[in-house]
Amino acid sequence: MERKRILTGDRPTGKLHLGHYVGSLANRVRLQDEYECFFIIADLHTLTTRPEKEHVMALRQNVTDVVLDYLAAGIDPARSTIYLQSAVHAVYEMNLIFEMLVTLPRLQRLPSIKDMARAADLNDDTLPFGLVGYPVLQAADILMPRAHLVPVGKDNESHVEITREIARRFNRLYGEEVLPEPEPMIGEIPSLIGTDGQAKMSKSLGNAIFLSDDARTVEKKVHGMYTDPNRISADVPGRVEGNPVFIYHDAFNPNKAEIDDLKVRYREGKVGDVEVKEKLARAINAFLDPMRERRATYEAQSGLVERVIYEGTLRASQEGEATLLAMKRAMGLSGLWNRISRKAREAIARDEKAGA
Ligand code: TRP
Repeated sequence: MERKRILTGDRPTGKLHLGHYVGSLANRVRLQDEYECFFIIADLHTLTTRPEKEHVMALRQNVTDVVLDYLAAGIDPARSTIYLQSAVHAVYEMNLIFEMLVTLPRLQRLPSIKDMARAADLNDDTLPFGLVGYPVLQAADILMPRAHLVPVGKDNESHVEITREIARRFNRLYGEEVLPEPEPMIGEIPSLIGTDGQAKMSKSLGNAIFLSDDARTVEKKVHGMYTDPNRISADVPGRVEGNPVFIYHDAFNPNKAEIDDLKVRYREGKVGDVEVKEKLARAINAFLDPMRERRATYEAQSGLVERVIYEGTLRASQEGEATLLAMKRAMGLSGLWNRISRKAREAIARDEKAGA
């Protein structure tokens, strides 16, 4: 039996961190065993808010950084397809066709578009058409390989719903089941708090531990972590609940007995922050070590990461061409062009014969 297809991915905006790992990467690594996975590096989506040349130039670094993080995390290019969105021609064509199948108010009402506009400092007068169309482009991504399942966060759930509506509309309009309606697979894991204990882990807030951080950097970041602010010395009883140091212990330290012992002593004021943090840094480093090893293997050979992207993109492009052809056939667009070109070739042949 054919394995079901998954499509998901990221906008390449920089290095991935522990929050990405617990929130999505760990799940993707697992999904590879059961599904045929496509992982998109959605560089075109970054243009919806940042179309400038300098930004496009920065994609060179960001794309390879993200893919190297994927590979380090355990995404296996022998089983899964990692590809560059902007190099798959079918995506642009599908995007245009899908633009006809969704209304403007449906898109404008989405909170996700408003959130992205606000984050990028855009108002009703400066909002690009392409940002309103963000979910339509995402529908093209998902329907391009005719994916069945789309693992995404809550913030992207409405985009998968739009994708379902577009697929349904297409199939109904053109009377053929060309596009399967994909199901969202919503991650239940709440986002990981940052090292500052104030907001979710994010590169822009400077509260992230990156998958690519070396052991020394991890130690430094952990030692600077926010803990219970009321605990001015080691003999004051501390709060474990909501304390980021213990949240990380629970997430990354496999030694449950050690965690329990630290929690008991922390609550009783019988352990210093330094010991809790040293044990945490050790646990996170042990957690990252296998990723460091895989990263080193890929970095050892120049062009290896590029080859993964290249081969994945060729593979994805084949899927895209097949889907686009099926779509154009159902629509009658390929028939239109076939008819024109056949008649034109006949006329050319006639002329050539007459002139010869
Ligand atoms: N919208 C996703 C994000 O928030 C990126 C993305 C683009 C995506 N195309 C996709 C995710 C298709 C899943 C499926 O970064």
